[in-house]
Amino acid sequence: MKKVYLVGFMGSGKSAIGRRLSTLLNIPFYDMDAEIAAQTGMTIPQIFETYGEESFREMETDFLRHFHDEYCIIATGGGVAMREENRSIMRQTGLVFYLNANFRDIWRRISTDINRPIVQRSSRIELETIFNKRMPLYLKSAHIKVETTDRTLKEITQYIA
Ligand code: S3P
Repeated sequence: MKKVYLVGFMGSGKSAIGRRLSTLLNIPFYDMDAEIAAQTGMTIPQIFETYGEESFREMETDFLRHFHDEYCIIATGGGVAMREENRSIMRQTGLVFYLNANFRDIWRRISTDINRPIVQRSSRIELETIFNKRMPLYLKSAHIKVETTDRTLKEITQYIA
């Protein structure tokens, strides 16, 4: 097996599940946002503020293009599946799991998060519209859809493993 990519909307559990999976399978774990933040020395809100969203999207694609660790688990950012190039890199270099969560749970988890610029600038309705628009792209990027509603992190991790 090559890389394991976890895709899905903000708050769908990509990082939490990625970390657990990493421990369970003894495979290195990378959180894309954390990697980009470390590379730039800036937080995600600072990158959005200073360079704009489009530059952040370029950084995400750059990360996917140049990340060479062969066997690892990657929690992608929630916007990664929007770009055709990103979807294609992920599908060609690994196995892509889409963590499907319902919007009500997602809103409960992320609505007060100040570290997510998209949440900061959107109303609940706007965010739900983005969620609905992205759903087909997550499905398109993924080899396997994983239902997370009413399942514990442990159950989801074991299912993927
Ligand atoms: C984003 C999701 C975030 C982060 C950035 C933009 C998005 O990642 O990349 O704030 O557009 O959905 P998480 O999904 O890890 O929160």
